[in-house]
Amino acid sequence: MKYFIHTYGCQMNVHDSEKIAGIMEGLGYESCSSAHNADAVIFNTCCIRETAEQKIYGHIGELKKVKRAKPNMIVAVCGCMSQQTGVADKIKESYPFVDIVLGTSNLNLLREAVLSAQNKKRSFNVDFRQYNEEDFAQSRTSFPNAWVNINYGCNNFCTYCIVPYVRGRERSRRTSDIMAEVKSLLAQGYKEITLLGQNVNSYGHDLPYGESFASLLKEIGELDGKFRLRFMTSHPKDLSDEVIDAVAAYPNICNNIHLPVQSGSTEILRRMNRRYTRDDYLSLVQRIRAKLPDVGITTDIMVGFPGETEKDFEDTLDLVKQARYSSAFCFIYSRRKGTPAYSMDNQIPYAVKRDRITRLLACQNEVTKEISRNMLGKRYEVLVEGANTHYADTMCGRTESGRLVNFKCDDSYIGKFVIVEIEQAKSATLWGSIVKERQ
Ligand code: 5AD
Ligand code: SF4
Repeated sequence: MKYFIHTYGCQMNVHDSEKIAGIMEGLGYESCSSAHNADAVIFNTCCIRETAEQKIYGHIGELKKVKRAKPNMIVAVCGCMSQQTGVADKIKESYPFVDIVLGTSNLNLLREAVLSAQNKKRSFNVDFRQYNEEDFAQSRTSFPNAWVNINYGCNNFCTYCIVPYVRGRERSRRTSDIMAEVKSLLAQGYKEITLLGQNVNSYGHDLPYGESFASLLKEIGELDGKFRLRFMTSHPKDLSDEVIDAVAAYPNICNNIHLPVQSGSTEILRRMNRRYTRDDYLSLVQRIRAKLPDVGITTDIMVGFPGETEKDFEDTLDLVKQARYSSAFCFIYSRRKGTPAYSMDNQIPYAVKRDRITRLLACQNEVTKEISRNMLGKRYEVLVEGANTHYADTMCGRTESGRLVNFKCDDSYIGKFVIVEIEQAKSATLWGSIVKERQ
């Protein structure tokens, strides 16, 4: 029997899909690459923006015909979208061919649900109280990188964001459990560990012995062996100097910080409930650059938040030029039911949002190009991560600061550290050649 997982959204979901894969493989299913060949199709969903949701409903709908031809096929919908109020009932009624709906909180119930579905019994459970995040056999898919959860959920309630409602309150994993997982991954040969949390900087505040994100970084930084440690996402209001110092002190910790700004206007930030001002953010960027001169800072930015004026938007453009991000994920604000911003006045017309995102992308593109040009002719350590499937015999990997580089070599290099000289840097895409093998 074969399973296919359709994953939407962020790295958190990518990693949850590895847990889903572990459960399916525990049941004797093997992975396959298309829903049409599968005996079980699992949608691991996202609801951060309306476009994500519309796409998912479209993809679920497409399975109606497939299921008619293959009545024993199991269809499951898991993840953030199903955790929203009312969605499980909607799917139960409008998509009768869906066998299973589970929320972010009930992945542990997937095994039982699949066994029931094999006997034609449908399961719907999005009850947060059933929560169990630990003890999943995982089937990892991103060698040489391994994702490791450090905290779940979010307490920040940014006014535009659905995440706190679908992922629940912040919960930190015990440091001893994280350390055991990291050590086991390194022993298995993983070369890059990426710590995951909606807000990694608040790690430990709910643990009993004064644990903090900085103390966790130091403990992992002390481990022997050649590997890279990355982490995401950092909320600017909680990024301490101690964390910056830990990144500076340990060569294993990559000088790469994802620091979502969302807007460059203090007034919009206030209404987003971000709890920092434009100046707070820019001085944090300065503090980071003072201690980590080669750091790559990336960000998330939103345009068209309710009430955003042309002046507010220009403040965002100006901040982008000052912060000098190596790259930025830029989004059009999407109204999410149940969030405070949904009912704010002055929702911005779509045409204005479109115009702003185009200008924002152009602005960031200029910054990225300039940073790329500065890399020309220089040499960087790169971890070979995988094939660039668009070109023959081409692999790609990232510099410590997080920039993606393409270079010619075969796939026996995957998981090795190499030194690459940058030869082409016209845009965001960098090309180079291996000048030295490291390991
Ligand atoms: N509309 C658009 N973008 C959003 N994000 C979160 N909520 C919304 C929304 N309602 C963006 C933020 C966040 C990233 C993961 O998604 O920029 O940092
Ligand atoms: Fe959403 Fe804000 Fe929490 Fe990030 S910090 S997940 S944007 S509420």
